[in-house]
Amino acid sequence: QRKYRSDYQASIYLIDRVSLDFDIRDGSTRVTARHSVRRNPQLIGTGGRWWLDGRDLRLVSIAVDDEPVADGALEVSETGLWLNGLPDRFTLTVVTEIDPDRNLSLEGLYRSDDMLCTQCEATGFSRITYFPDRPDVMSRYTTRVEADAERYPVLLSNGNCIESGAAGEGRHYAVYEDPFAKPCYLFALVAGDLGVIRDTFTTTSGREVALALYTEHGNEDQCHHAMASLKDAMAWDEATYGLEYDLDSFVIVAVGSFNMGAMENKSLNIFNTACIFAHQDTATDSDFARVRDVVAHEYFHNYTGNRVTCRDWFQLSLKEGLTVYREHQFAIDHGSPGVTRIEQVRMIRDVQFPEDAGPRAHPVRPESYVEMNNFYTITVYEKGAELIRMMAQMAGREAFTKAVKHYLDKHDGQAVTIEDFVLAIEESTGLDLAQFRHWYAFAGTPRLRVSSRFADGRLSLELAQATPATPGQENKPNFDIPVSVALFDDAGQVVRAPEIVRLIEQRETFVFDGLAAEPTVSVLRGLTAPVRLEFDQPDDALVRLMAHDSDPVSRWDAAQSLYMATLKAAVTAHQNDEPMPALGEGMMTAVAALLADPPDDRALLAEMLTVPSATQIGEAFDAIDVAAVEAARRYVKREIAARFEAELERLADAHAPSGGYVFDQVAAGRRRVFATALDYLACLDTPAIRKRAQAVYDAADNMTDRMAALNALQDLPGEEREATRADFAERFADQPLVMDKWLRLQAATEDGDTAARVRDLLADDRFDFTNPNRVRALVGGFVRGNPLGFHRADRAGYALVADEILRLDAINPQLAAALAGLLAPWRRYAEPYAGGMREALARVGEADLSDNTREIVDAGLGDQ
Ligand code: ARG
Ligand code: ZN
Repeated sequence: QRKYRSDYQASIYLIDRVSLDFDIRDGSTRVTARHSVRRNPQLIGTGGRWWLDGRDLRLVSIAVDDEPVADGALEVSETGLWLNGLPDRFTLTVVTEIDPDRNLSLEGLYRSDDMLCTQCEATGFSRITYFPDRPDVMSRYTTRVEADAERYPVLLSNGNCIESGAAGEGRHYAVYEDPFAKPCYLFALVAGDLGVIRDTFTTTSGREVALALYTEHGNEDQCHHAMASLKDAMAWDEATYGLEYDLDSFVIVAVGSFNMGAMENKSLNIFNTACIFAHQDTATDSDFARVRDVVAHEYFHNYTGNRVTCRDWFQLSLKEGLTVYREHQFAIDHGSPGVTRIEQVRMIRDVQFPEDAGPRAHPVRPESYVEMNNFYTITVYEKGAELIRMMAQMAGREAFTKAVKHYLDKHDGQAVTIEDFVLAIEESTGLDLAQFRHWYAFAGTPRLRVSSRFADGRLSLELAQATPATPGQENKPNFDIPVSVALFDDAGQVVRAPEIVRLIEQRETFVFDGLAAEPTVSVLRGLTAPVRLEFDQPDDALVRLMAHDSDPVSRWDAAQSLYMATLKAAVTAHQNDEPMPALGEGMMTAVAALLADPPDDRALLAEMLTVPSATQIGEAFDAIDVAAVEAARRYVKREIAARFEAELERLADAHAPSGGYVFDQVAAGRRRVFATALDYLACLDTPAIRKRAQAVYDAADNMTDRMAALNALQDLPGEEREATRADFAERFADQPLVMDKWLRLQAATEDGDTAARVRDLLADDRFDFTNPNRVRALVGGFVRGNPLGFHRADRAGYALVADEILRLDAINPQLAAALAGLLAPWRRYAEPYAGGMREALARVGEADLSDNTREIVDAGLGDQ
């Protein structure tokens, strides 16, 4: 059943106090909930009848003021129950039984290996007890947990532990009290036999916060980077936003089975182990960075999400967009600022733009949904963060920080809307955001067309916008688009410092006077707005920008444009059965210049040397021709490698692994350059490079270098590759997260019958269908990492994915729906791919599906 934003109504009853009692037994957990309830004073004249959500629950008893509810006053259905004839104030007691051992949806209370844990956002709490499972009902929670003392020595919930002890028969209990009112989606509980590392953090005002990070025994040594990151995030939020932690304890638990990255439950964050574990032996530099950023993200939610939360789920970007923005700022302060921004830009272009152009396009603030879990999207998160970033750029960073604090003060303890946020920003900064609000309401990526004219010392820059229709939204208004502009002379000197102009109308001309000569124009620097730029610049201008632009992102962007010209020509040549084109003059100049005079920031060098992704190349065409894109990319890489072999050898030598792993910007940049050089050289498939890759693998003292070697061997079938892979599988057999890397490698290898190999792996002991990390590695790794294998002409790749969607849908609808999203954008592809994907999607659509998967499949098969 579809829910609409416009249907919002406040809750008729409010719950001030929630008291939960979990009696954990083998085979069943009994939940006794007691709530103090009162009529919502804001709603006059309603009442008496109240809806409580509940799914997969066994209702043992329900009582109002300790009197069992009479049958006539109770209507129970699959999704919840109605209570009738209620007084204005009462105590509600609900007893339910649940079975976490059999809950494979990973929502509500469930088992992950030997522990029990929860995931309640968005609506998992209704799998624990009957409750108004909506974020605008905020309550103070007291939680008692009782379980076997030997199997579950650690018992955790939100807030402070106020009591604990023995409970007889080898059992024990703990009682937690959370002093902050919260929505039920922030509730958490953990019970298990866990190892822990501890630390403390003292806030500016002197509060000593006890920090603990729990995980299954034996993994403690992989948690220190996460702990350090947490302290870093706490200090950063104080220094940047003046936000101090508000309780005496902050706990993180890392669990092996988790549908997403992590969850910001009040004072008890629960994480996917993939976002906590980081040790040089088992994690790459990008794993280290992701752990740091996700730990920070969840911590930042304590204010942007928990202290001020969402009124309803249509407002999800209120907390996610803002928190991702804060996470991005944090990341930029902790790594190479240029490259960190490049990674964010790439994410927007490679993943968000396609979502915005596909069947699942939706506004940052959606108008309707069937299953909320389908809306934890790149649009709500990353485009949402870009909207915040635009406001910050228009206001200036300092004024914007002040405005965010104003918003947090004004709405502390409340459940609010995106409109409340925008209003608070307007109040504090004085910005006029009337037209800017369209960004929240309309889906689709605006195209920004730029053209420039120069005469008599005057540059006229014409900007024009147009936004394509998206499902359900035919006509788009003009957006308020901040565009940064800078002008350079031929020597690379700035002749106009960067400034931001706002395109408000459909078309506007901006004039720059008093110029001695025609300048080189740099626009949309660092992607000041999430739009597709259409600006034809001559190669020599791009080469100049690449060499001299003061913004590293613009330098990288210029390099990407130069590569893209040749890549597009190569795609077309392949499609027309013509010989591949010679590498473009501009591109050759660019690469030569990069290698001769590399930027100091080594990570930037690596980025600039990397040709656009297959996704980016596909984006440049109306219909994606998978084989042509792959052929073009391989051809261009190989040509670069052949032409610059000696320089790349020297680059690899100069950045070769030298031992003594540290995770910092300089060292990680060096490793990235080495991996990039190795990747190019591997295209030449010489005995020397095979030997070199194997030697790097053997000698590596860290996972980053080891993976660089394995990746270089990826497309070189033979002894070296198989031997190193076999060694890898053996060496890390007891490390599930590393085995995920191994599964990904296998899935991404396209020689022979890949689909058959992936099917074998699905049946392998090292694979576990109930664990989302394994499924994402093998099935997701196949679709994303192996375009030729997935898009095989015999359609075996599509069939495999369809089979897995159907198998998964019965146990974990959230994950099944995510996989279905991989087939849904079939219209973007050329034939025969489109027809094959559509056929597989249609077969999934014939089955009896969960709401989650149904919503995605129907969108994919719809007429747009
Ligand atoms: N709030 C979490 C985060 O972004 C994500 C939880 C998503 N849950 C879900 N069921 N989709 O930090
Ligand atoms: Zn979040």
